[in-house]
Amino acid sequence: GDEDDLVIRPPVVTVMGHVDHGKTKLLDALRDANVVDKEAGGITQHIGAYQVHTEVDGDDRRITLIDTPGHEAFTAMRARGAQATDIAILVVAADDGVMPQTVEALNHAKAANVPIVVAVNKIDKPEADSTKVRGQLTEYGLIPEEYGGDAMFVDVSAKAGLNLDKLLEAVVLTADASLDLRANPTQDAQGLVVEAHLDRGRGPVATVLVQRGTLRVGDSIVAGPAHGRVRAMLDEHGNEITEADPSRPAMVLGLSAVPGAGQNFIVVEDDRMARQIAEKREARERAAMQAKRRV
Ligand code: GTP
Ligand code: NA
Ligand code: MG
Repeated sequence: GDEDDLVIRPPVVTVMGHVDHGKTKLLDALRDANVVDKEAGGITQHIGAYQVHTEVDGDDRRITLIDTPGHEAFTAMRARGAQATDIAILVVAADDGVMPQTVEALNHAKAANVPIVVAVNKIDKPEADSTKVRGQLTEYGLIPEEYGGDAMFVDVSAKAGLNLDKLLEAVVLTADASLDLRANPTQDAQGLVVEAHLDRGRGPVATVLVQRGTLRVGDSIVAGPAHGRVRAMLDEHGNEITEADPSRPAMVLGLSAVPGAGQNFIVVEDDRMARQIAEKREARERAAMQAKRRV
């Protein structure tokens, strides 16, 4: 039955936090240290999401990081009703402490019911005070485990590469403790567009995140108002892949147009149906825009 077909999928993680607290540096450090299949070669490209792995209790565990930091992408996706994120890493610089956008990010994650792991960053700095950060966030109801709460806090340095594995372990443990991350890889794929652009040589290129099922080269898909057959898929190293299972990000070539971040994609029976659905979606969007303009 369907229950039997469910397998654990990696958590999908967004990094949030105040300006300059180290979101980009942390994402870069995690990618450099832990990326999956690094030895496969190819040029690492920015595809908007990538997978890393870490060992937890002797098991190799994967984590999908959405590499569009800041809660803007997160909010844009939520505005479309898309829930891409399972867990939020809240980055707080230990020299600066909790700042307005820290609280904003915290509130976004809470509103979306997304568990938070706190990365107390820049602990290499002499003026770093990670105890103060714990105290400040406790006041906002985010209580560290060591104070009897249920949020995991990890002191890290993105710059020095300190405790990055601990941070990934905290993400996996938080996922295991509070989420049921299972998906059926055997059904037709569906998921979200993380980002998309028009490439001069390759045409529309969309980074998608598979949420259910397995996406394969040759599948007919509808992504927002775009449609097409998946001509090729690339991973974050630019290597061609033939399929993408749940929580796996992939760059998809072969779409008729550039979809928007946060729009969903589905696999349908054939090209004809894909085009019909896409045309209906486009007409609906156009009507909605016109209605908005009339108000
Ligand atoms: P925005 O995207 O602009 O909001 O910033 P951000 O949160 O992505 O911060 P970013 O990664 O750009 O880092 C901001 C500055 O802090 C840069 O100069 C980094 O080199 C520095 N930085 C980040 N992490 C660390 C760290 O662990 N230790 C130290 N000493 N500096 C860091
Ligand atoms: Na910055
Ligand atoms: Mg940044």
